[in-house]
Amino acid sequence: MKKIFLKTFGCQMNLRDSEFVMGLLLDKGFRKADSIEAADVVIFNSCSVRKHAEERLFSNIGDLAGLKKNRPGLIIGLMGCTAQSYKDQALERAPLLDFVCGTGNESDLPKLISDILKDGCRIVAADKINAKKIEVLPAYRTGAFKSFVSIGEGCDNFCSYCIVPYVRGRERSRDARDIIREVEDLARRGFKEITLLGQNVNSYSGGFAKLLGKLNSIKGIERIRFMTSHPKDASIELFKAMRDLDKVCEHLHLPLQSGSDRILKLMNRKYTREKYLKLVEGYREILPGGSLTTDIIAGFPSETEKDFKDTVKVMEEARFDSAFTFKYSARPPAKASRLKDNVSDAIKEKRLKTIIDLQCRISEENNRALAGRTVEVLVDGHGSKDPRKLTGRTRTNKVVVFNGSADFIGKIVNVRIGSVTSYALRGRIV
Ligand code: SAH
Ligand code: SF4
Ligand code: F3S
Repeated sequence: MKKIFLKTFGCQMNLRDSEFVMGLLLDKGFRKADSIEAADVVIFNSCSVRKHAEERLFSNIGDLAGLKKNRPGLIIGLMGCTAQSYKDQALERAPLLDFVCGTGNESDLPKLISDILKDGCRIVAADKINAKKIEVLPAYRTGAFKSFVSIGEGCDNFCSYCIVPYVRGRERSRDARDIIREVEDLARRGFKEITLLGQNVNSYSGGFAKLLGKLNSIKGIERIRFMTSHPKDASIELFKAMRDLDKVCEHLHLPLQSGSDRILKLMNRKYTREKYLKLVEGYREILPGGSLTTDIIAGFPSETEKDFKDTVKVMEEARFDSAFTFKYSARPPAKASRLKDNVSDAIKEKRLKTIIDLQCRISEENNRALAGRTVEVLVDGHGSKDPRKLTGRTRTNKVVVFNGSADFIGKIVNVRIGSVTSYALRGRIV
């Protein structure tokens, strides 16, 4: 009975893949280790989206040198996007690694680990990048009332800065019947909220609004979220579905990346600032109380002060509720890595700080409009800063902090908002 410790980096897809893999391993008789020290097998599920993420990963692997020296039988493995990107080269960069398992090979992981346990060899399996995950999924989930559900894998958009299409393969949608079966199973087990995952949910092959309609009728599920929407494919039809389907939450994550048409073109994003703002206008009209969040990259190659100001202007017009902001990072073989990364780190840093400060101000202003209102909250658990408090999320995905007993965890309550900050609302249960 070997024990597994799985550490996950990166996005929600990776979190879901880690559950999938842990489920497979548990089904095969492996057990879960509570810490790295207690593990026979340590697996890193990795992210390559920015260089910094990769460096942190390799330094984490390196940190296990002492442990491996004391326990030569310890198996250390790499899965996920960096595994797919490096393949056998990962063994050179990280000599401690015993195996490398690509994004399409995850179903083979139990056998791969058993083989290493038997033969003590090093294995690289990264030859199935475009494989479909097996459709009958193991039941294992980390949560009890909220869960991610994958509706597709891969990406065909090739935004010029992005490594994802190279490490996740071509876009393939999961069969609607399998998705529905999975969500029905979650509902039976008491799950209340699902978040549908795909690199671009709006290009779901059977029609995304139609899929939302089918899932909306599953009894027991109370909230449906989704991410990510690409502005070139998000549509008024989607916003109407969000309005008309009672379980679909009023939150849209719509990555802007840049507000400059010149940069958007270089990024291969296939929309203009005007089209983006039109979309936002449509969203606001159809879902007046809905929230809007985004991703922004500062310092893409050749970005001028004027390009950057265009981004700031769009932020002021769109008035996002929050924004994930990143410094551009060159990711070969993504196309933009062949452009000169000519915005200095100091300027990237300065621009990043400008948009973070601006977003902080707008977030707080948007939140202030909620003071005095009563909002529906799904209670997540105790606060990380103050364990005497409870925290949860509104349908619009805002964090709410309030007093209450642990009995409320996993339940939906109404909270009247008192004070607000840029990242949270405070209130009391009514
Ligand atoms: N499919 C999703 C998620 C992609 S990765 C989408 O299209 O939004 C999440 C975010 O990371 C992206 O939206 C982008 O803002 C950021 N990102 C991706 N590649 C990057 C790079 N090379 N440098 C900096 N940020 C990057
Ligand atoms: Fe990357 Fe663009 Fe695909 Fe998102 S849509 S994963 S940013 S290539
Ligand atoms: Fe996600 Fe990072 Fe891969 S953002 S898809 S884990 S490169």
